[in-house]
Amino acid sequence: MRLYRAKDYNDLSRKAANIISAQVIMKPDCVLGLATGSSPLGTYRQLIEWYKKGDLDFSEVKSVNLDEYKGLPKDNDQSYYYFMHQNFFKDININPENTHIPNGMEPDSEKECSRYNQVISDLGGIDLQLLGLGHNGHIGFNEPDTAFAKMTHCVDLAPSTIEANKRFFASADDVPRQAYTMGIKTIMQARKILLIVSGEDKAQILYDVLNGPITPHVPASILQLHSDVTVVADEAALSKF
Ligand code: GLP
Repeated sequence: MRLYRAKDYNDLSRKAANIISAQVIMKPDCVLGLATGSSPLGTYRQLIEWYKKGDLDFSEVKSVNLDEYKGLPKDNDQSYYYFMHQNFFKDININPENTHIPNGMEPDSEKECSRYNQVISDLGGIDLQLLGLGHNGHIGFNEPDTAFAKMTHCVDLAPSTIEANKRFFASADDVPRQAYTMGIKTIMQARKILLIVSGEDKAQILYDVLNGPITPHVPASILQLHSDVTVVADEAALSKF
């Protein structure tokens, strides 16, 4: 595991964007695993800037997103489909047919999860998976549990996740209670992982993730077992080290 210390969120975003750029340059038809939330916004902005300068080409890139709220249509401004389009895809030359996100409107969980697992396997797996970190140690929407979830599945969101994500909705009652997410095994099968963590409010959980025991109660702690993980965190997030 490599740990890079960034000065602040901007520095973190540039470092993360540099790592993703290197992946796209070295393998133009790579499969990028993408994430939502506040953490990757600066990274996407930086990648867009470099694309517009002519330094990056996404025409052959394929993408798979980590997760999606169950029950939110694509045109809902809180769906992760909408987020990815607004914050990244609409400003780069990725082919929309090459972008994949779980379908939150499929009510049959088993059907949607096996479809999504098949999408990832048909693409040949993920070359580089970008991850943010939830306050309770979740990655994607893999919440603390008594066992590590394997492949794509439907989860009940933890009260703390509903609380953390209510800032994007009119009220906590409007936050969907369930989501589809890649499983821990899906994430661990990515050839490379890039975890980005910003802010003092993530300092304790980042410490636990990297230094604590590997336990499903802190889902991201499993990353200690992956052979190619890069962590980029800002000074605030590293304040417990
Ligand atoms: C959300 C997402 C995760 C994200 C995490 C942290 O619930 N499902 O993929 O990494 O929470 O979000 P943020 O970056 O906004 O702190």
